[in-house]
Amino acid sequence: MDIKTVGVVGCGLMGAGIAEVCARSGYDTVVREVTDEVLEKGMERLRRSIGTAVERGKLSSEERDAALGRLRGSTRLEELADRDLVIEAVVESLDTKRELFRTLDAVCPPHTILASNTSSIPIIEMASATQRPDRVLGMHFMNPVPVMRLIEFVQAITTSEETLATARAFGESLGKRVIVAKDRAGFIVNMLLVPYLLEAIRMYENGVASREDIDIGMVLGTNHPMGPLTLLDYVGLDTTYYIANILFEEFRQSQYAPPPLLKQMVTAGFHGRKSGRGFYDYAGGEQPPKV
Ligand code: 3HC
Repeated sequence: MDIKTVGVVGCGLMGAGIAEVCARSGYDTVVREVTDEVLEKGMERLRRSIGTAVERGKLSSEERDAALGRLRGSTRLEELADRDLVIEAVVESLDTKRELFRTLDAVCPPHTILASNTSSIPIIEMASATQRPDRVLGMHFMNPVPVMRLIEFVQAITTSEETLATARAFGESLGKRVIVAKDRAGFIVNMLLVPYLLEAIRMYENGVASREDIDIGMVLGTNHPMGPLTLLDYVGLDTTYYIANILFEEFRQSQYAPPPLLKQMVTAGFHGRKSGRGFYDYAGGEQPPKV
């Protein structure tokens, strides 16, 4: 089966990025948000991002206009009724996702593949809420979606080989490299990344080094594009805390246990760049160290 039409549920940071790359890659794309106000905010984010791509010479203004012409926003899930693929990128809440998959299963025709961009919730939880568990899989995009070249696919025990093959062809048509993981908490990337990020927090919490030196150490010492504390601010401390808790619950190993400082910062509302403060106080004019 060929994917021609795509639906994206959620137009937050990830949903907007996913909708952008789909429209840029030639797909007729509908993106759905809960209210007009949230939808407009997400579409504005998307337009800014696609504008940056033009400024950076990644896209001509004609290509931008054609991409925006392939894109439509809606607040109605029913508008996804003619989609070949629907990618869910809503909040990381199991109840919300199961309810959404149940509704999508009722709204979409039998051939539609349903994918989740979850970073941590087992795909079988969503697949089992539908009558098409063979046509449900994980499609975990990386942030920032238009720039990062990877998509991590997650094959639940029910996902068919045919679904995976169709999804792989779609993922590659977005210009991304596809990797496949089994349906286990953390998949590949977060299983490796999250313990590393948590260790950087413990190091800072224990006074081993300054936040700047921890970041500079990994940027200049290992050629990472960002140091771990800068990356935590970028990904979101709340998101990392959420994923760490899921990993700890699943494996009960100390490397996944969220450090007290992370919990305190999340409780204080220091969620990183998006809230104006994380390990660095962006609202107060601080920036991660320049290297
Ligand atoms: N569309 C297309 N290309 C764009 C673009 C857009 N909207 N915006 C920027 N670009 C291009 C730029 O032109 C540039 O390309 P070039 O290298 O060919 O010149 C490239 O993207 C980098 O852009 P910038 O110069 O603006 O930015 P930086 O060089 O400062 O890099 C960064 C920013 C890409 C965020 C880099 O710091 C980075 O890679 N950081 C690490 C990000 C990361 O690890 N993400 C994964 C997080 S884990 C995750 O998402 C999983 C989740 O479950 C937690």
